[in-house]
Amino acid sequence: MTAEIISGKELSAQKREEMKYRTQELKEQGIIPGLAVILVGEDPASQSYVRGKQRACEETGIHSELYELPESTTEEELLGRIRELNDAQHIDGILVQLPLPSHISEDAVIDAIVPEKDVDGFHPVNIGRMMIGREAFLPCTPAGIVEMVKSREISIEGRHVVVIGRSNIVGKPAGQLFLNENATVTYCHSRTENMKEIAAQADILVVAVGKEEFVGREYIKPGAVVIDVGVNRNSEGNLTGDVKFEEVKEVASYLTPVPGGVGPMTITMLLNNTIESAQKRRR
Ligand code: GUN
Repeated sequence: MTAEIISGKELSAQKREEMKYRTQELKEQGIIPGLAVILVGEDPASQSYVRGKQRACEETGIHSELYELPESTTEEELLGRIRELNDAQHIDGILVQLPLPSHISEDAVIDAIVPEKDVDGFHPVNIGRMMIGREAFLPCTPAGIVEMVKSREISIEGRHVVVIGRSNIVGKPAGQLFLNENATVTYCHSRTENMKEIAAQADILVVAVGKEEFVGREYIKPGAVVIDVGVNRNSEGNLTGDVKFEEVKEVASYLTPVPGGVGPMTITMLLNNTIESAQKRRR
């Protein structure tokens, strides 16, 4: 068997095309969705992510504002900026790029964003709403993963989803979203015993570990759907995922590539959340 590749790049292009029509319609009502992006410090990876998000906004008809703050910014200064943006009428979404410098509390920053503008879906109120199945901004990477699975004739209800990784922004919410779709969900993490055996029972395997070549064919049940959330740089400086692509491609039924898989979908879901926020807030 050779896996079909689910291209996040192609799916994103389709979805962003639809979003352009939505922003056009909003514009005719005098509404331009607005996203504020805050970047603290000069981490090159974060700078590159933020540029990607801004470019995507521009292409989709979303107004974006970038606040580049120096590494020396205090927590109080950052919180002050967030409060201003909470009150700004033309801003529908506020995104603070993570990670933050160690002298700033990420929890305090996430808590400071009003849940109605938390288009990252990181605020405890949105996480709580998601857990109990209420309307919420969904975290972008997990929401993008579910969209990729749903874009093919892959059933989720009743299937066994194994998530490797339990971060607050990917692993944990990804499992929760699959549970909301009536899957049976198992989490694996760094302390899990017999991880390979558990992973090899998955109908859908989500790998969000952050280690190059972590998952090989021995983790895969023949015919499984494999979602690679990894973003790593290999020794040659190229972007790679957590999955041994060539090897797993021979066993899985569907597989997502890196680059061009989950990454573009994360940005697409951010755009979607921002447009939805504008529709809700300014109705
Ligand atoms: N850092 C890595 N991924 C993300 C993300 O989705 N949102 C934000 N704000 N920071 C991140």
